[in-house]
Amino acid sequence: MDSFRRALNAPITSRLRVAVFASGRGSNFQAIIEAQRSGELAIDVVVLCSDKPASRAVATATQDGIPSVALDAKKYTHRAEFDYALFDRAAEFQPDLIVLAGFMRVIDEAIVERWRGRMINIHPSLLPKYPGLRTHQRALDGRDRVHGASVHFVTPELDGGPVIAQTELTIGEHDDAAKLASRLLPLEHRLLIASIRLIATQRVRLDASSVLFDGRPLSHPLKMREDDELHM
Ligand code: GRF
Repeated sequence: MDSFRRALNAPITSRLRVAVFASGRGSNFQAIIEAQRSGELAIDVVVLCSDKPASRAVATATQDGIPSVALDAKKYTHRAEFDYALFDRAAEFQPDLIVLAGFMRVIDEAIVERWRGRMINIHPSLLPKYPGLRTHQRALDGRDRVHGASVHFVTPELDGGPVIAQTELTIGEHDDAAKLASRLLPLEHRLLIASIRLIATQRVRLDASSVLFDGRPLSHPLKMREDDELHM
């Protein structure tokens, strides 16, 4: 049986319970916690889940007194077995929303389906451009003038789910992949926070296969502007 507490299209009467999944540095996770603390995000981060017990993300959770579940994928024979173990543990915390923030695994399809409409991912490219890895280098190799990041609902297709919102930056003459990544990161944090806020306030949700914004299907992703708000 599905163990989620409530569907995201049902009226939310209390704070959104959020589980964050991260594999590494966890700067997006940190940004979410800070936004919760400052009151910018009226949510509760209920658990940090990871496939890397020694990651900085797990250390941050411990430091900040946030429960964490970190399982070592190497101890599981089958990929799916690991995914079920991790997501079952996450479900015990009754999250309304799962945020994949640098979670570096392709998740079992049945699990993705189970969380459809209740799981989002941040990806460092202007999707549908550059799904997968090395996005900054690929944008440079493609001689793109503009690069960016996307937040999307997760579907079984890798980085292929309906995009909620994007942030853009102009590629500079002197940018290399590392520089581009570090210029983009703070924008990613703002984008993720703004996207979570729209879900928490029930302005954004997934309907069948399109993103609804204030009840209307989005024909293109929302764009982050200088005021840190998302606009049509
Ligand atoms: C971010 O660039 C995110 O877009 C990608 O992985 C990176 C995670 O960074 N999915 P951090 O672990 O949140 O610092």
